[in-house]
Amino acid sequence: MGSSPLPFLSSLLLLFLLTLPTSNATLHRAKLLTSELFAGPQPSSPTAYFEVARPIPLPKTKPCSTLVLQHNFGNTYAKPPVTALYKPPSHCPLHRPPSAVVLEWSAACRGRQFDRIFGVWLGGVELLRSCTAEPRPTGIVWTVKKDVTRYSSLFARPHTLAVYLGNVVDQTYTGVYHVNVSLHFFFDSSTHRRPPPASPVPDFASPADLILPVSRSLPSNDGLWFLVQNFSDIQKKKLAVPANTYRAILEVYVSFHQNDEFWYSNPPNDYILANNLTNLPGNGPFREVTARLDGEVVGAVWPFTVIYTGGVNPLLWRPITGIGSFDLPSYDIEITPFLGKILDGKPHEFGFGVTDALDIWYIDANLHLWLDSKSSRTVGNLIKYEAPEFMSSLVSKFKGLDGRFKTTASRQISVTGWVKSSYGKITTHFFQRFDYENQMQFAGNGSIQVVKQTIDFNHGTYTKHPSSILHSEQVHQNFPLYMYTGTTDQVNDTYSLVSNITLGFNEKKFSGERFGFSFSSLRNLQNGQGNMKVKGNLVTNGSGSTQQVYRYESTVGCYFRNVSSNNYTILYDETEKSCAKASPLGAGLFLAARWPPFPARRTSLATEIYKLKNGD
Ligand SMILES: *[C@@H]1O[C@H](CO)[C@@H](O)[C@H](O)[C@H]1NC(C)=O
Ligand SMILES: *[C@@H]1O[C@H](CO)[C@@H](O)[C@H](O)[C@H]1NC(C)=O
Ligand SMILES: *[C@@H]1O[C@H](CO)[C@@H](O)[C@H](O)[C@H]1NC(C)=O
Ligand SMILES: *[C@@H]1O[C@H](CO)[C@@H](O)[C@H](O)[C@H]1NC(C)=O
Ligand SMILES: *[C@@H]1O[C@H](CO)[C@@H](O)[C@H](O)[C@H]1NC(C)=O
Ligand SMILES: *[C@@H]1O[C@H](CO)[C@@H](O)[C@H](O)[C@H]1NC(C)=O
Ligand SMILES: *[C@@H]1O[C@H](CO)[C@@H](O)[C@H](O)[C@H]1NC(C)=O
Ligand SMILES: *[C@@H]1O[C@H](CO)[C@@H](O)[C@H](O)[C@H]1NC(C)=O
Ligand SMILES: *[C@@H]1O[C@H](CO)[C@@H](O)[C@H](O)[C@H]1NC(C)=O
Repeated sequence: MGSSPLPFLSSLLLLFLLTLPTSNATLHRAKLLTSELFAGPQPSSPTAYFEVARPIPLPKTKPCSTLVLQHNFGNTYAKPPVTALYKPPSHCPLHRPPSAVVLEWSAACRGRQFDRIFGVWLGGVELLRSCTAEPRPTGIVWTVKKDVTRYSSLFARPHTLAVYLGNVVDQTYTGVYHVNVSLHFFFDSSTHRRPPPASPVPDFASPADLILPVSRSLPSNDGLWFLVQNFSDIQKKKLAVPANTYRAILEVYVSFHQNDEFWYSNPPNDYILANNLTNLPGNGPFREVTARLDGEVVGAVWPFTVIYTGGVNPLLWRPITGIGSFDLPSYDIEITPFLGKILDGKPHEFGFGVTDALDIWYIDANLHLWLDSKSSRTVGNLIKYEAPEFMSSLVSKFKGLDGRFKTTASRQISVTGWVKSSYGKITTHFFQRFDYENQMQFAGNGSIQVVKQTIDFNHGTYTKHPSSILHSEQVHQNFPLYMYTGTTDQVNDTYSLVSNITLGFNEKKFSGERFGFSFSSLRNLQNGQGNMKVKGNLVTNGSGSTQQVYRYESTVGCYFRNVSSNNYTILYDETEKSCAKASPLGAGLFLAARWPPFPARRTSLATEIYKLKNGD
């Protein structure tokens, strides 16, 4: 990913010097590729690229829309972010909370260009982390629509909108990104979902009352993200939370670039040293992002392996882009149990680090806060906190450039605390449980690399009054990855690369409240097969095929799509908007099997749900 073109091109040179004339170190050259003048018929109109996602559920009302920013991103690398003043549009009734808000990024580009990471911030709060699509000579267009309802509190007041997209245009890399950023506000008068004034319990589904940015401030010649360059680099910011906060969630955005763009394929250092490959990125294939509050780890992120649009073989991602590449996932860490430590009105330090990081990670966060409208002070206390260091192991066996490595890791974080507000004394329990396994193999004298990795991530929040459960949410995420790359025919600066990829994002989510529950399941899987000829860092010939199946089922609806492309052409594309809804029995079993935190309550909650689903 060309977030920083200069270091990036020089490291390419080093790699070529290093690897000539042998054919080892397969994958690492695949990072630096950009679009090619593609052989074959060229269309007369721009190609539309897309990421497969389910439609955003929206009220049937007409939105009121505003174009917030329009810009052509030419030579924008290491320049200040492009900004515009956002004002609540006068034709939108933003004095009341909208029922949904959608951010729309639409862009066009033509020519040749690298994939560029970019971010969109409003008042320093990150709304979107994304990657540009790589253009073709006849032009491309793409649109990203993101549900930004959770950021509603921002839209009621003027703020600076900032977009950083570091692009470089010259005679070779000609692509200028033409971009429009719009907001669409939906108001639905019939379901005006704020808690009535006398509500005895908080509305856990309502957006935060206040969002504080944990990002760098303008002015800057970069994105507002923090730059984490190595394992000991902890990036920090101090901020104070209002004294009447009763709930807090830290939403973390991460992306990885340059030496860590393919962190999950970085070999262990022993292998690198033994083979004198010291210019290749190493540190092994495990990475953990930690979020810290006053130095203490409050949560972790074991990130989904997003492959950007130039990754591995750029032809795989045209026009179906990689999972998450147009809308990188963010990760929520419940910090309500820690509120007792930071309700003193004083600034406290939020920090981010990455275990075994290589240059470079872009990280920032948004602190979502819910405020007690009926009191000026809340109080809280931490009851229990357990965050033992993660455990990891490495088994390695290699001779020369060929060998096998198995890396495993696991970690648990668990915390309980209470906050007393006008809603009474609410106890919140939050946990995270991670499991990771990576099997890496080098064969063919280092010309073939195979990576098989799985990240398993369970997390949940459980909230109760002294006598009753208020809210529970549990999420299980599973990120499988398979990557085969084989290099052949290397002569001078030209080589061929064959690659096969499987990339999955699976998620089961359960949330229960006193008056209902919801369950959803997403299975999103991509398979890709590519081959290409590369000269310098240009793909000169090749092809890419991608097949994707996206299956979403939930208690409120479902979505299914089965789509495939080859060489820019869609081979088939089936969509179903109605399908079998998630089984209540499945939800109940999921809950019973996976819900440990307050054992005495478990049975009754599960029974309650069973009753609800059976029409009681
Ligand atoms: C941006 O909006 C203008 C109209 O304001 C439109 O002409 C142009 O095609 C749009 N560009 C993109 C990339 O959507
Ligand atoms: C890690 O990065 C920081 C920030 O660039 C730098 O000051 C520090 O010297 C680096 N440490 C190591 C061990 O490389
Ligand atoms: C690595 O380099 C050292 C010294 O530069 C040399 O002695 C050694 O044989 C080299 N090893 C390999 C595997 O090339
Ligand atoms: C494997 O590659 C190394 C250097 O990268 C080379 O010295 C060696 O001769 C190669 N071995 C075989 C069997 O091709
Ligand atoms: C490789 O480069 C050398 C020196 O530039 C040149 O003489 C040779 O013809 C090139 N080989 C091929 C196959 O292009
Ligand atoms: C790559 O995928 C193709 C098509 O599915 C398959 O025929 C081939 O065996 C795969 N190769 C490897 C090494 O997985
Ligand atoms: C591209 O590769 C295909 C085979 O994959 C080959 O038939 C074709 O001739 C190549 N085109 C060029 C311009 O090298
Ligand atoms: C994809 O394009 C390459 C290069 O032009 C060509 O060799 C290959 O046959 C194409 N594949 C299909 C299925 O059209
Ligand atoms: C997707 O469509 C292809 C082509 O019609 C079919 O072979 C495949 O079985 C479908 N996959 C699923 C999961 O429906």
